[in-house]
Amino acid sequence: MSTDGVNAGRRRLLIGATAAVGAVGAGFVAVPFVKSWTPSAKAKAAGAPVTADISQLEPGQKVTIEWRGKPVWVVRRTPEMLAGLKAVESKLLDPASEDPSMQPSYAQNETRSIKPEYAVLTGICTHLGCSPLFEPEKAKLEADWQGGFFCPCHGSKFDLAGRVYKGVPAPKNLEVPPHTYQADTVLVIGVDKEHA
Ligand code: FES
Repeated sequence: MSTDGVNAGRRRLLIGATAAVGAVGAGFVAVPFVKSWTPSAKAKAAGAPVTADISQLEPGQKVTIEWRGKPVWVVRRTPEMLAGLKAVESKLLDPASEDPSMQPSYAQNETRSIKPEYAVLTGICTHLGCSPLFEPEKAKLEADWQGGFFCPCHGSKFDLAGRVYKGVPAPKNLEVPPHTYQADTVLVIGVDKEHA
């Protein structure tokens, strides 16, 4: 697991992530093509969930957790960062997250999250799959930059909810993976809130 963000170099973040052990396993993945999946079966087929204690994630920081071989970012957004989401809406391609394939229904809201303070995003660019960079500082990329993610491969930009800017190669917002909270700051990635 890696961390970065504001003052990250001076802080040591210890977050434990453990793959949940249970009935969900590789054996299930071997037979995924069942005609009528129940939601819980679909959730199981998505892979074993990963649990992470994010209590030590400080405001403004990002942590990367691996789930199913993919990087999942968790950003603890400050009130200023949340205000910035509103400020950039007119520049975004899908500000209301209308594409249902890019987030679970419980994250189709203004902050694309269950808890506004925490963004949970798959860290893979929706253009050709590079890993965008975390650029949380205001005015870093452009004068009215409110913080977000920048893909170094072809220049796509995303806000701190993973919403893609207009006029860049990436066609979609970053994906919000299925997730839920086991406790206030114990995140489970790979389980849908409704189906937990
Ligand atoms: S892969 Fe990100 S902009 Fe092309």
